[in-house]
Amino acid sequence: MAKRILFTGGSGKAGRHVVPYLLDRGHRVVNVDLTPLDHPGVDNLSADITDSGQMFNVMTSYANFDELEPGTGVPAFDAVVHFAAIPRILIKPDNETFRVNAIGTYNVIEAAVKLGIRKIVIASSETTYGVCFSDGKTDPHSLPVEEDYDVDPMDSYGLSKVVNEKTARAFQRRSGFDIYALRIGNVIEPHEYDLFPGFFADPAQRRRNIFCYIDARDLGQIVDLCLQKDGLGYQVFNAGNDTNGMDIPNAEILKRFFPNVPLSRELGEYEALFSNRKIREMLGFAEEHDWRRYVKPAH
Ligand SMILES: NC(=O)c1ccc[n+]([C@@H]2O[C@H](COP(=O)([O-])OP(=O)(O)OC[C@H]3O[C@@H](n4cnc5c(N)ncnc54)[C@H](O)[C@@H]3O)[C@@H](O)[C@H]2O)c1
Repeated sequence: MAKRILFTGGSGKAGRHVVPYLLDRGHRVVNVDLTPLDHPGVDNLSADITDSGQMFNVMTSYANFDELEPGTGVPAFDAVVHFAAIPRILIKPDNETFRVNAIGTYNVIEAAVKLGIRKIVIASSETTYGVCFSDGKTDPHSLPVEEDYDVDPMDSYGLSKVVNEKTARAFQRRSGFDIYALRIGNVIEPHEYDLFPGFFADPAQRRRNIFCYIDARDLGQIVDLCLQKDGLGYQVFNAGNDTNGMDIPNAEILKRFFPNVPLSRELGEYEALFSNRKIREMLGFAEEHDWRRYVKPAH
């Protein structure tokens, strides 16, 4: 079922893998970003998510010149995937990160809902769990972290993502449309598996990510599954791989890095502490890019 998709932020680290994945699945993708994505088959429109008028405008636009030909007007979008953001703290001043992410997401969701686009997928983040950008070493309340967690970040980026989830929920309640928020784990591009031996040598550097990763191509699968699966209303999904991005078992990770954190359930030996159980059970996610395909464990 090919769809006509408006994708914001498709030129970025995650988008440049997710957009080609969606194109390969037969979808038409219009990338709305400040800079274009140079990839065959993708249509680009340069626009700023912090400008509401521009968001309403791009969502009522032709994708490219070929859509002028039938003479039947501008086709409707089937879905909006919203990835554009300032992707962490310490790139821009904190207030600017919050402004772009919170207002940008409001503008994208509002335009999509008011234009009758009934499927919206937004990028939230692992950082909502409050460990990643915390001051000092913070423990999660419990492990594994799952979607019903009381998210409590203390930084402007994580806060912007919590606000975005609330924005999504409010618009979903009002419209009844499907709006799914993906709490995306640490994105790993295909060339970045060469970082893993360094992670294995010094696991402490992955504590703030709760040892998670999401292969950028597997993230493409997750987005596609969200586009295919209708009728779930408002949902939050962790978007991560099946196991930790680490070559030591959970027993050792927990003992060394989270000795005081209670477990909410039993865990598999290497099962991700950033749990992806919900996407496996509700969306049918089947991991294709386990890190073990690309890196030899050191232990
Ligand atoms: N990379 C990660 O590990 C990670 C983890 C969790 C969540 N996320 C989230 O996933 C999404 C994609 O992240 P990424 O790593 O690809 O980030 P990125 O910075 O590489 O890409 C973001 C894109 O958004 C565009 N953009 C920024 N401001 C814009 C604006 N005002 N108007 C239009 N476009 C704008 C940028 O040009 C860029 O192409 C973001 O929402 C990010 O917060 C990323």
